[in-house]
Amino acid sequence: MKAVSSSSPAAIHLLRCVHCGSIQDKPTPMFRCRNCSELLEVFYPDWAQASREFGLRLKEIWRERRGSPLPEDASGVWRFRELLPQIDRGHMVTMSEGNAPLIEIVGIASKLRLRRLSAKHQGMNPTGSFKDTGISMAISMAHAAGFRFVCCASTGNTSASVAAYAARAGMKSIVLLPAGQVTSGKLAQALEYGANVLQLNTDFDGCLKVLHDVVERFPAYLLNSLNPYRLEGQKTVAFEMMEQLDWRVPDHVIVPGGNLANSSALGKGFAELQQLGLITRLPKISIIQAAGANPLVRSMRENGGERLIPVNAETRATAIRIGNPASWRKAVAVLRQTGGACEDVTEQEIASAKAELGEQGVGCEPASAASLAGLKKLVASGFVKQDETAVLILTGHMLKDVDYMLSSPARRVHGPMAADPTAVIRTLEGLNVGN
Ligand code: F0G
Repeated sequence: MKAVSSSSPAAIHLLRCVHCGSIQDKPTPMFRCRNCSELLEVFYPDWAQASREFGLRLKEIWRERRGSPLPEDASGVWRFRELLPQIDRGHMVTMSEGNAPLIEIVGIASKLRLRRLSAKHQGMNPTGSFKDTGISMAISMAHAAGFRFVCCASTGNTSASVAAYAARAGMKSIVLLPAGQVTSGKLAQALEYGANVLQLNTDFDGCLKVLHDVVERFPAYLLNSLNPYRLEGQKTVAFEMMEQLDWRVPDHVIVPGGNLANSSALGKGFAELQQLGLITRLPKISIIQAAGANPLVRSMRENGGERLIPVNAETRATAIRIGNPASWRKAVAVLRQTGGACEDVTEQEIASAKAELGEQGVGCEPASAASLAGLKKLVASGFVKQDETAVLILTGHMLKDVDYMLSSPARRVHGPMAADPTAVIRTLEGLNVGN
């Protein structure tokens, strides 16, 4: 584990139920409210009195840290520690997570007639997905609390991240995966980092349900996004994005939705920046689901987000194959607060969007491409208007799901052929390459 050394302030926090508002002194192992079983959120009571100068000073402090070699400054999470729960630096588990590039995509922006389109590529994190920001935060809390075991249920990315960060922290990890539904790349990562990998004969929702009972009977710390500290790490993507945009708020941020924690975290990050006066308006945060795994879309359409309508999830974008998302209430609040849209996209739309990004030199896994597929729909419907600015959240690296790309009928490998220049040139001529 990385122990870090210099001093800096951090925030005093409380845990509060998102539904009934009650404060929880000691969370249950599943981080559910003791009164109404809903999810908890971290909040910072002192910020109600925060001065405008506090916000302005933060921008300066964060900028100065960018050149620092200290692990807590090099991390794209811990660099923003004034807005995170207080933790002793000896417990911080970090690998320079965050620090994800914001890549401008001029080709697609001009096709969609947007003033500017960028991709915040969280697939560039240490284990190749956005999960690392949240896991760094939450596993540090587990370390501080003295846990030796951490656990999660996962469609693959969380398990890779949990396994890696547990290894860094000298802790043991236990991951429950839906058998046959996790890409080989993600499975290999969890194994390589030394996780105890258990495949269950159920889907992601079933794994999470089993884990619910396991943590009641086994002393492992839950690292799924029901854990509110996960969202504290993940909200820093909003801070980092605003720095990269020189604090000019985009009109739209588009994010894929599965268990719905990332969209919730993003909304929380922007709302906190606004509360502290670092930004004056919020972007519209729109959430995109796969058509075969669209419980939030259905709930918004059919009852305005008052009740969740779970579905039996099915999609080739396996990362978001989730039918009963835990953070749905938080996500509905983000849609309402920011005025974002909630859309679903077909398998074909996801595949085309992924290929379009690929043509721009930007790779991502299928679930991430749902964001572009959704943006295209929102442009077509007029929700995203000409000349507006948008940021796509790309959640995972393209190498997470190689089979998806190799099985595309549109792609062809030529050969095998003779190892001979004439054969190569004849093939190129046959393909009309060079004209
Ligand atoms: N994109 C990718 C690449 C993901 O791995 C996930 C979730 C999402 C989007 C959706 O984010 O759940 O916060 O709405 N993956 C989880 C996992 C469920 O186990 O790796 P969400």
